Formats: sequence, structure tokens, C-alpha cells
Amino acid sequence: MMMIPYFSLLLLLLSGLFCCLISASISPGWTLRVGGPNTNLTSANNTFSLSFISVNSNNPSSVAAAISYSGIPVWIAGGDDGVVDSNAAFEFRTDGNLRLVNGSGYVVWESKTGNRGVTMATLEDTGNFVLRNDSVMVWSTFDNPTDTILPTQNFTMDKRLRSGSYSVVLLKSGNLTLRWNDTIVYWNQGLNSSIDANLTAPSLSLQSIGLLSLYDLKLAQPVVVAYSSDYGEGTDVLRFLKLDSDGNLRIYSSVKGSGASTERWAAVLDQCQVFGWCGNMGICSYNDTKPICGCSSQNFEFVDPNDSRKGCKRKVEIEDCPGNSTMLQLEHTQFLTYLPELSSQVFFVGISGCRLNCLVGASCVASTSLADGTGQCYLKVSDFVCGYQSPSLPSTSFVKVCSPELPNSPPSSPSSTDTKTRGLRAWVVVVVVLVTLVGLVLLESGLWWWCCRNSPNFGGFSAQYALLEYASGAPVQFSYKELQRSTKGFKEKLGAGGFGAVYRGILANRTVVAVKQLEGIEQGEKQFRMEVATISSTHHLNLVRLIGFCSEGRHRLLVYEFMKNGSLDNFLFTTEEQPVRLLDWEARFNIALGTARGITYLHEECRDCIVHCDIKPENILLDENYSAKVSDFGLAKLINPKDHRRTLTSVRGTRGYLAPEWLANLPITSKSDVYSYGMVLLELVSGRRNFEVSASTSHKKFSLWAYEEFERGNIENIVDRRLTEHDVDMEQAMRAVQVSFWCIQEQPSQRPMMGKVVQMLEGITSIEKPPAPKATTEGSVSGTSINASSSVSNFSTFAASGPGPSSTSSFQALGVPSSVSGRNIERTSSSLLQN
Ligand SMILES: *[C@@H]1O[C@H](CO)[C@@H](O)[C@H](O)[C@H]1NC(C)=O
Ligand SMILES: *[C@@H]1O[C@H](CO)[C@@H](O)[C@H](O)[C@H]1NC(C)=O
Ligand SMILES: *[C@@H]1O[C@H](CO)[C@@H](O)[C@H](O)[C@H]1NC(C)=O
Ligand SMILES: *[C@@H]1O[C@H](CO)[C@@H](O)[C@H](O)[C@H]1NC(C)=O
Ligand SMILES: *[C@@H]1O[C@H](CO)[C@@H](O)[C@H](O)[C@H]1NC(C)=O
Ligand SMILES: *[C@@H]1O[C@H](CO)[C@@H](O)[C@H](O)[C@H]1NC(C)=O
Ligand SMILES: *[C@@H]1O[C@H](CO)[C@@H](O)[C@H](O)[C@H]1NC(C)=O
Ligand SMILES: *[C@@H]1O[C@H](CO)[C@@H](O)[C@H](O)[C@H]1NC(C)=O
Ligand SMILES: *[C@@H]1O[C@H](CO)[C@@H](O)[C@H](O)[C@H]1NC(C)=O
Ligand SMILES: *[C@@H]1O[C@H](CO)[C@@H](O)[C@H](O)[C@H]1NC(C)=O
Ligand SMILES: *[C@@H]1O[C@H](CO)[C@@H](O)[C@H](O)[C@H]1NC(C)=O
Ligand SMILES: *[C@@H]1O[C@H](CO)[C@@H](O)[C@H](O)[C@H]1NC(C)=O
Repeated sequence: MMMIPYFSLLLLLLSGLFCCLISASISPGWTLRVGGPNTNLTSANNTFSLSFISVNSNNPSSVAAAISYSGIPVWIAGGDDGVVDSNAAFEFRTDGNLRLVNGSGYVVWESKTGNRGVTMATLEDTGNFVLRNDSVMVWSTFDNPTDTILPTQNFTMDKRLRSGSYSVVLLKSGNLTLRWNDTIVYWNQGLNSSIDANLTAPSLSLQSIGLLSLYDLKLAQPVVVAYSSDYGEGTDVLRFLKLDSDGNLRIYSSVKGSGASTERWAAVLDQCQVFGWCGNMGICSYNDTKPICGCSSQNFEFVDPNDSRKGCKRKVEIEDCPGNSTMLQLEHTQFLTYLPELSSQVFFVGISGCRLNCLVGASCVASTSLADGTGQCYLKVSDFVCGYQSPSLPSTSFVKVCSPELPNSPPSSPSSTDTKTRGLRAWVVVVVVLVTLVGLVLLESGLWWWCCRNSPNFGGFSAQYALLEYASGAPVQFSYKELQRSTKGFKEKLGAGGFGAVYRGILANRTVVAVKQLEGIEQGEKQFRMEVATISSTHHLNLVRLIGFCSEGRHRLLVYEFMKNGSLDNFLFTTEEQPVRLLDWEARFNIALGTARGITYLHEECRDCIVHCDIKPENILLDENYSAKVSDFGLAKLINPKDHRRTLTSVRGTRGYLAPEWLANLPITSKSDVYSYGMVLLELVSGRRNFEVSASTSHKKFSLWAYEEFERGNIENIVDRRLTEHDVDMEQAMRAVQVSFWCIQEQPSQRPMMGKVVQMLEGITSIEKPPAPKATTEGSVSGTSINASSSVSNFSTFAASGPGPSSTSSFQALGVPSSVSGRNIERTSSSLLQN
């Protein structure tokens, strides 16, 4: 007796399993319903899915059975007519027919494949839904497109794309045409006349890289009809050709999973040239850049006030006119005419003839005098006309209305009575322009006078140089003499580091700068300029800006913006030279965030990704608002490799910022910067050097001791004691401490990317408890001296590991961090100290 429940349970389980395993292929008898047991069918890779989708945001119960890519429909059963209610069903019937029935059982659409031996239907990963008799294809959505063509889909002469009244047709000649109501061809692109071939069966196909090409047996090679603007770019991008409801044919690209698509090509550049876009009697024009639809005068009103594209209608029909009818004149307007068109007649008459001929012609509704030199006048006799108004059109048009004519209130066509005010306006414009010009000249000469009076030392040439080039944002090239002058002969030294000494200078335009005299650079002029270009193209709020450079003989100098508050170490660590100026918690946290953002930009966001290789408080400068700016990025590449040998032999005590991989024969990546940043972050919180050992840290390295305290939950022991308790936001401190432990993980792969670090600090991403950073040999104060020859090879390849294709570029590193050089340990590197 217990057997039956068990059995049914098993069945239930199996069927449950089966339902969810269903993908790609289905057998006859399958039905798709909104909220039914089968809500969708997905292709093998989940790229495409067949389901009911909502087609009208105002009415959620109107749906359509569609194949979609990340929510973008690419095929709709029944096309525009396939809109049904939510009780509808999409049936794969046992006879092999595919049907869409609405809630009352009415067949809205069918594939007409009944009794043709169809045994299976498959949604393929190309987006093609295929009905097969065993292995023979009986029917497919690729052969029955609605408004979209996917890559690998062939569009041939016997097929149509449709959207509303619009359609796309391929002709035997290879011409691709766009049509309205199947008759009026408003866009036509033929093969280049130099290609002289009688095609047999042309076929249009969109390649996945974004080329729309025409294939034919008679063509030696496919002819490209259109290139999408992003062709050949990107991965995981689906491109598709779609006839939009506005009558334009476009190529779109969509990144998988984004659900959004971007226009990459459009057949008709001028939307107003799409026949019927504004409906009957509608007038298309541009406001700014957007095409808009309007009516020609107050004699008309919108057919649907909620949708200007539905066209206009006369308020009083001509037949019902109590008085006489008249011709309303429209300047700079033409009624679209695509020849040969039966609905219009061509005459060779002047403007007034064009008007009169239409007025007296009973069937004529409107007329256009082209006024383009051809002398042509079109009389529109169809009951569907659409207009185009643009100041660039010479044409004058007339439309028959019941008198009196009521022009639109702000007439775009100025009549002769306006000439007086127009003349006046022109005068005002002339006067304003003249006054402005004179003012500018005066201002400029004033500036010149001011500059030259104040800086007699500087020649007119260099002043001009600085004014023009500095303003343009490109790096300015200075002569050595110029820099010598601006630094008063390299008098005022701001600091010295691994790359060379830094001096304060004042440029001709009175900008205060920091001039870095690079040492040990034996790179060629060209290579140096390339690196300078890379560095100066790297702009970020949290990066020190490179203003210019000098490359003359053996002299290599870099000119940076001057940072009033010097480097971060001055605000954290007590030195003998000067008492520490404490920063409050808010400032410190902002510096931590700013620094992280700057490094994120270097790693993940800029064009040529840069591994800094030397993140430490000395290289984090503070501007007048105490905003952090990372300096010295991109310099590691400049140093001559020969120099490493010399500096490396003297490595002694890595000062705690170098990631373990520097010493372990492993490649240096952006994760090495993350390690260094983690150490800096810990120092920002604690106000102590990370490698400090003292009785207060139980004679352990500070970073290791700090982790133990963190484990015990004693965050307040880690935080700088000099900060008052109520000042510190303990929640931020907790986040910062945890992030720093994640950053200083021994395994580079364990460390987060810099972008993630920013998010964790901001509290956007939750932070898991970090594992213990291992006690490694790095950073021990006793110091390890490295065998130079074995180490140099370690630094031969750097790879920036960031997301995106550009960041995968790896580069030959010619550099090594300046902190490795043993000499200037107390005042290492390049701090552009404060005045
Ligand atoms: C497809 O169906 C499965 C279960 O049948 C469901 O989990 C999934 O959300 C559906 N996908 C879509 C796009 O409706
Ligand atoms: C689909 O998945 C297979 C492996 O499962 C893969 O080789 C193929 O490239 C994928 N196709 C697409 C379009 O993603
Ligand atoms: C189904 O279609 C028929 C014919 O167009 C229509 O009369 C009927 O109202 C539709 N039923 C529903 C529920 O939409
Ligand atoms: C379908 O397949 C069956 C047997 O496999 C065959 O007899 C029949 O002719 C096929 N029908 C078509 C339309 O190919
Ligand atoms: C498209 O046409 C090409 C060549 O004419 C053919 O190899 C390919 O199978 C066709 N694709 C489809 C989906 O029918
Ligand atoms: C569309 O064309 C058909 C004939 O081809 C015609 O009867 C119909 O009036 C046209 N529609 C409009 C709105 O002109
Ligand atoms: C094909 O297009 C060209 C212009 O691109 C045109 O001159 C030619 O007449 C068209 N041929 C046909 C058959 O429409
Ligand atoms: C036609 O092809 C020739 C030579 O291939 C080329 O010079 C010309 O620009 C092409 N014309 C058009 C309209 O594409
Ligand atoms: C194409 O066909 C026409 C007539 O059918 C013929 O006169 C012409 O020479 C052919 N052109 C080519 C390139 O074969
Ligand atoms: C352009 O048209 C849009 C809507 O059609 C309107 O919101 C916008 O204000 C117009 N802009 C101008 C400059 O007229
Ligand atoms: C236009 O929209 C309003 C509100 O959305 C609606 O009340 C009105 O009936 C609509 N008018 C037409 C002609 O559809
Ligand atoms: C209507 O037109 C006729 C002839 O063109 C003219 O004699 C008559 O005065 C007009 N009537 C009105 C009300 O303008």
C-alpha cells in the first residue's frame, strides 16, 4: 500500500526534474503559457529564449510569443499581429503544427507544418527555432523572419521583414529596398555600378562581427552593404539587423546579459525622409536634432493627440466647407515624392501655377514646387501625403484647406512684414560682435602687457608657449634653460627619491610646479616621449598631473603640478626633522578612498594600464584641500635596466610595502600594488609604520600584531591613539582594517582588485572576515639582501591584470620601485614636499 505514494512521489520528482532540464529541444504536444508549466524554452547556452513577453507597458496583459536575447525580442510569432492576451497559448501540436491561439481559442498565427512529419523542435544557440522531420529541416524562424535578422541568418528575395506599414525587400538585382505599404520605395541601395554581374539568387547576411554583406554565386566575393560602427570590436556582443517601427533599418549591438542595445548603423540618415513617418498629412521637422511630427496649420489637428506620429486631419473637411477652399502656403516644405509614384503628377510650372493647378484639380490635396532649378511641380492626388519641413529646403508647398487659412502661431516662415525687425536684429548682432571683438583685443593686449611687465626675464616666446599649450592639456615641452630659470637654477629642493631630486619652480604663467630631475635614464628620446605621452594622458582627480617635460641631451625632466601639502608620511609618522601635523579621521578616510580611486584608475580604467610598483605614503601627495593624489606612476618603466643591478644589490629592508612576490621569483601584477596599498591603509588607520616592532606590539611586526588584535575584536587598539575617540567613525575604521588585511594577503589571487577595494571601503560591498596574512620574510626589519643576478630576471615582465581587453596588455618592465634603493630610506623617493 505504501508503494503507490512512493511511486507517485518518484514520478513527481522525475517530472519536476524533467521540466527543468528541458532546454533547446521539445517534442510535439508541448505548450507554452504565461504562468503555465512551461514558461520558456532556452537555447543550449541560455543565449536565446522562447517565451511570452510583454509588448505594451501600459497594458501588461497584452503579450506576444517571442524569441528573445537578454529580453530583446528578435522574432515574434505572427509579427505585429501576434499580440494576444495573457491567457494565450503557443502550441507545438502533435501533428507538428505550431500555433498561437488567443484566450478564446482563436488561432492568431500558425506555421502550417501540420502532417509534414515534424518530430522535434529545437531552439538553437544562433536564435533559430527549427522544426525537423528527424534530421530534415521542415520550417525555421530564420526562414520566416519578422522584423529582425540575426548573424548566420540568410535573407533572400522571397522573404520580407515587416514592421507596421514598412517592409524590407531584396531585389534580384541585389538592390536592398525599404518600402511603405509595399509600394513606395523610400530607400534603395544597389550594388556599386562597377560590379557588373547578373545575380542568380542574392542573399543578404549579417556577419557576427558587424558586416552586412550580399552573397551570390556570381559574385567573386561578398559585397559589403554596410559596416556597423563597432564592427570587429568587443566580445560577447550580438549584432542584429532590425526594421524598426519608425521605418528605419538599423544594425544594433547588444552585450550579452545587458538587455540593452546600441544603434550602430541606420539605412536612412534623415528620419524625415522615411515615408509616412508622421502619418497622413503630418509634417516632419527637426527641433534641435530630434525629428518631430506636427501639422501644417491650425486648420489641422492630430488624429491622436497622444501620438503625433498617427498624422493629422482637417478640422473641416473640404467637402463640408461652407465657403470656398483655398491653398495654404508652406515655405521650406515639400511633400515627399518617391518616383515612380502613381499618386502624384509632375508639371513644369512656376510657384503660382503649382498652387492654382492644385486648387482647381478636384482630386489634388497638396502640391510642391521644388524650386530647386528643375522647375518641377508635383500635384499630390493620393489621399496619403506626408511633408518635410526644413530651413534648408528651397521648396514651397501648398495644401488645400477650407478657408480661412490659419497658419501655425510662431510661423517658421517669415513673411515680408518681418523684414524691418530682421534688419534691426542684424544691426544688433553686428554691434554686439564688434564690441565683443574690440573687448577681446583689449583684454588680450592687457594680458600681454601684464605678463611681459611682470616677467621680463621670460621671452615672449615661452610665455606664449605656456599660455597656449598648458591650456590645451597636452604636455608642454620645456627647454632645459627654461626649467633652469623657473627653478632659479634648481635651488629650492623639495625632496629626493629613487628617480631623482624634485625642485620647486614657477612657470612663465605663474603656475607653481614641481620639477623632477630624472636620474639613470638612458632611454632614447623617442621612447621617453612615448612614456611621457602615456603618463600625461592619464588624468584623474586622484593622480598628480604631469604638466610638461624636458628632453635635451642627457637631461630628462618632468614637470608636475605642485602639491601644497606635501606627502602623506609627514602627517602620519613622527620624525626628528619636524613634528607631525595630525590629520583627523575624516581626512584620513578620504585620503584612503582617494588613493584607492587613483590606483583603480591606473589599473582598471585608463587606456594603457599602469602598475605603479611603488605605492607608499611618500608617493601620496596632498593638495590644499588634503585630497590625495598619487604621484610617480609610470616612472618604473623609465629607469634603465642596467641601473637595477646597482640598486638591487643594495636592497636592505624593503620598508614593508613590497609584496612577497617581489622577492619570490613571481610576476609582478597590479595585485602587487594592492598589497602596498593595504599596508598604506593600515598605516592611515594606525599612524604607525606597518613594519614597526616595539614593546607595545609584543615585539611583533605591527601588521601581524594588528591582525591578532583584530581577531580578539580590539579594533580600538589598532586605531591611532593620537586621534580622540569620538572623532573616529569606528564603523569606517573596522571596514578599513578588514580591507587592509584582505589587501596584504600573501597570495596575490586572494587580494581584491582595486575597484573592489573602493567598493568595500565605501560600504557598497559587504566584507567577509579576512584570513590571517601570513608571516612572511618580506618586510622584516632585519632585511634580506638579494642576489642581484637572480632577481633581475624576476622583474622582466609586468602584467597589469585588470578587466577589459585593453588591460590585458602586458609590458616589458624596465623598472623597479624606488623604495628598493637602499640609500634614502628615511626620505625615500619623490615627495614633492610642501613649501
Ligand atoms: C524559464 O523557466 C525557468 C523555470 O521553468 C525559470 O526559472 C526562468 O526564470 C524562466 N526564464 C525566463 C526568462 O522566463
Ligand atoms: C555554447 O557553449 C559551448 C560550450 O558549452 C561553447 O563552445 C560555445 O562557444 C557557446 N556558444 C555561444 C554562442 O556562447
Ligand atoms: C481572440 O481573437 C478574436 C478574433 O480576433 C477576438 O474576437 C477575441 O476577442 C480574442 N479573444 C481574446 C481573449 O482576446
Ligand atoms: C518525414 O519522415 C518520415 C519518416 O521518417 C517520411 O516517411 C516522411 O516522408 C517525411 N516527411 C517529409 C515531409 O520529409
Ligand atoms: C545561409 O547561406 C549559406 C550559403 O548560401 C549556407 O551555407 C548557410 O547554411 C545558410 N544558413 C542558414 C541558416 O540557412
Ligand atoms: C496601401 O496599398 C493598398 C494597395 O496596394 C491600397 O489599397 C491602400 O489604400 C494603401 N494604403 C494607404 C494608407 O494608402
Ligand atoms: C538599384 O539601385 C540603383 C541605385 O543604387 C539604381 O540606380 C537602380 O535603378 C536600382 N535597380 C533596381 C532594379 O531597382
Ligand atoms: C564603386 O567601386 C569603385 C571601385 O571599386 C570605387 O572607386 C567607387 O567609389 C565605388 N562607388 C560607390 C558609390 O561605392
Ligand atoms: C545580364 O543579362 C542581360 C540580359 O539578360 C545581358 O544582356 C547582359 O549582358 C548580362 N550581363 C552580364 C554581366 O552577364
Ligand atoms: C523638442 O521636442 C520635444 C518633444 O517632441 C520637446 O520636449 C522639446 O522641448 C523640444 N525642444 C525644443 C528645443 O523645442
Ligand atoms: C490620451 O491619453 C489620456 C491619458 O493618458 C487618455 O485619457 C485619453 O483618452 C487619450 N486620448 C486618446 C485619443 O487616446
Ligand atoms: C468663392 O470663389 C468664387 C470664385 O472663385 C468667388 O466668386 C466667391 O466670391 C468666393 N466666395 C467666397 C466666400 O470667398
